[in-house]
Amino acid sequence: MSDPLLRLDSVDTYYGQVQVHFGVDLEVNAGEIVCLLGGNASGKSTAMKVILGLLEPRSGEVRWEGQSWKGVSTSARIRQGLASVPESRRLFGEMTVGENLLMGAYTRNDRKQTLQDREGVLELFPLLRERFRQPAGTLSGGEQQMVALARALMSRPRLICMDEPTMGLSPLWVEKIWDLVVDIHRRGTAFFLVEQNAHLALELAHRGYVLQNGHLVLQGTAAELRNDPRIRDAYLGSDQMAGI
Ligand SMILES: Nc1ncnc2c1ncn2[C@@H]1O[C@H](COP(=O)(O)OP(=O)(O)OP(=O)(O)O)[C@@H](O)[C@H]1O
Ligand SMILES: [Mg+2]
Repeated sequence: MSDPLLRLDSVDTYYGQVQVHFGVDLEVNAGEIVCLLGGNASGKSTAMKVILGLLEPRSGEVRWEGQSWKGVSTSARIRQGLASVPESRRLFGEMTVGENLLMGAYTRNDRKQTLQDREGVLELFPLLRERFRQPAGTLSGGEQQMVALARALMSRPRLICMDEPTMGLSPLWVEKIWDLVVDIHRRGTAFFLVEQNAHLALELAHRGYVLQNGHLVLQGTAAELRNDPRIRDAYLGSDQMAGI
């Protein structure tokens, strides 16, 4: 069997003396949608940082198609096919939508092809063509999330990591962003989604993992997780359903 696209192998992560991950093992195969669920402070965003290379695990490692990413820079990871839509989008608010999209291609040096790719991305996101010259900071939350996703596509990724993509969005915008994820996935891109809203995540994902205080406590197919009483009690209660 071929190596998974992304693999975390017995990862222990620390902030100073404080351990945040305890032997975390997970994988994402090419073309899959995988979600990482878990409550507040369970280590989900930290897992994103470890995957992106913003934080090195103290032991264990991240592998890309079987190759260790130990000491590999974030930009090198992006060149190999990783992209991220970080928590709260992190757009360049003063820059226009068009300029923000080009920032997603900062690891590339094929300017002409990059501009062509931006045209392709705008086909997928017609609304962003209308907003093209508008400073990104003036867009609504949903529109900004759209820019962040479009920007991630500009590096031609094979895997897009998204941290809480639906946070603070109206149900209508959640649906729009989810439709885009489905569309992009159909074109062959894998996704790794961090979500507090298990109900939403399991609608979309093929498989999922559950982190609790830095330990992976459950994993399975989306159907298995949806039907697991522990998930239903902890994450699919009425609070999580509210707002859908
Ligand atoms: N830069 C940092 N320095 C020190 N501790 C941190 C730092 N970032 C996060 N932590 C701590 O690490 C733990 C995990 O945080 P993390 O942000 O990964 O959780 P999370 O699952 O994404 O939570 P949330 O659902 O609130 O987004 C928390 O206890 C948090 O306080
Ligand atoms: Mg988080």
